[in-house]
Amino acid sequence: MNTRETLKINKKGHLEIGGADAVDLAKQFGTPLYVMDEQYIRDMCRVYRDTIDKEYGGNGLVLYASKAFSCLAVYKIAAQENIGVDVVSGGELYTAIKAGFPADKIYMHGNNKLPQELEYALDCGVGTIVVDAYAELDLLDALSEKKGIRQNILLRINPGVEAHTHRFIQTAKTDSKFGFSIADGSARNVTAYALQKKNLCLKGFHCHIGSQIFEKQSFTLAVDKMFDFMGALRNELGYEASALNLGGGYGIWYTDEDAKISSVEYALYLEAIISELKSKANELNFPLPYLVIEPGRSIVGEAGVTLYTVGNIKEIPGIKKYVAVDGGMFDNPRYALYQAKYTAILANRADEAATEVVSVAGKCCESGDIVCANVLLPPAKSGDILAVLSTGAYNYSMASNYNRNFVPPVVLVKDGKADYIVKPQTYEDLVRNDVIPESLK
Ligand SMILES: Cc1ncc(COP(=O)(O)O)c(C=O)c1O
Repeated sequence: MNTRETLKINKKGHLEIGGADAVDLAKQFGTPLYVMDEQYIRDMCRVYRDTIDKEYGGNGLVLYASKAFSCLAVYKIAAQENIGVDVVSGGELYTAIKAGFPADKIYMHGNNKLPQELEYALDCGVGTIVVDAYAELDLLDALSEKKGIRQNILLRINPGVEAHTHRFIQTAKTDSKFGFSIADGSARNVTAYALQKKNLCLKGFHCHIGSQIFEKQSFTLAVDKMFDFMGALRNELGYEASALNLGGGYGIWYTDEDAKISSVEYALYLEAIISELKSKANELNFPLPYLVIEPGRSIVGEAGVTLYTVGNIKEIPGIKKYVAVDGGMFDNPRYALYQAKYTAILANRADEAATEVVSVAGKCCESGDIVCANVLLPPAKSGDILAVLSTGAYNYSMASNYNRNFVPPVVLVKDGKADYIVKPQTYEDLVRNDVIPESLK
């Protein structure tokens, strides 16, 4: 089952999530349904926060990268766990603020933040903006002047570390839409430019080397590159950065091709980063920077399970068996985007041997609408409840109303009790913003 064994099989042979029977959840709330395990999310927030406290004297901040899963309740949990969040759009920011999240602990990202998003961020009092373009520096400086504030910023840097992960989710190769490259000198030049801005306070730098990364060396290499850059800047510009944000990217278990990383091992990732950071700071005689990390997937990914009801089954003799469910790429587009792999089980027959390799297909009008390809299941029947594991990150947040299907609701489970944190949509929701103009009447 999942890494921290928060999923269990109960006496009825049913899958249990956070103490709740998945078959009962499917009956009570219907399918498709996203189920999130609250304790898992809290535990992961604590692992990172406690490691920064213990190993780095609390001189830093864990940000939950809320693009992984954004709704009011998750910002409440992050606030209660005393961590920060990062947001990448006006919509994520609005949701965080609406949940009462303290604005000073919000970092705002984006390679193309809209003027109205920047203005909104300043109005909300967002703590730090991670700047990714010259034009953004100009605009932010002007907006800050107008509002009579001096806005804290970081610059997004591309350290050129090629993390071992799927090429579509690498973000720090030299060819990337994100960040200023160290290698071609643009990181140095933009720093000099940012330092001239009277209404901006450059605290330091940010990098994010990719996602679903398991190698510690990728992260420690990023630390080395960022420190060498900061050391060179100090010599050239006399500027000493006081904050370093190293992004997220810690991998999670989706299938047995992935490692199962225990909470202790996640702490070890951070310890390796901190130890490298201390040794580089020592080597360059650099004051220890305020350390920020931005895990998203590893906080919510394995906390989530999606429940579906099996519908039609199509067997193409000698070729493949398709098990169709009542969801699809509209609730999980990750197979269509990156051929992402998942583990599926029959939640109502979780104790039965998995003997068949099948592809779980969605109900959208796309041949590529596969939820997971080539998964091992017991022979599935129409009406079975199929659970896809590790769907807490980048599923609900990437969902759409494609084919005018509903984005499924989300329930939060704890100690066997489940509550909606995102309610079901209705047909009326689907047409709420539609308008028939006079010319068509
Ligand atoms: C800037 C930034 N920070 C943090 C994250 C979170 O990464 P992950 O969910 O892999 O931890 C991302 C993900 O794309 C990102 O772009």
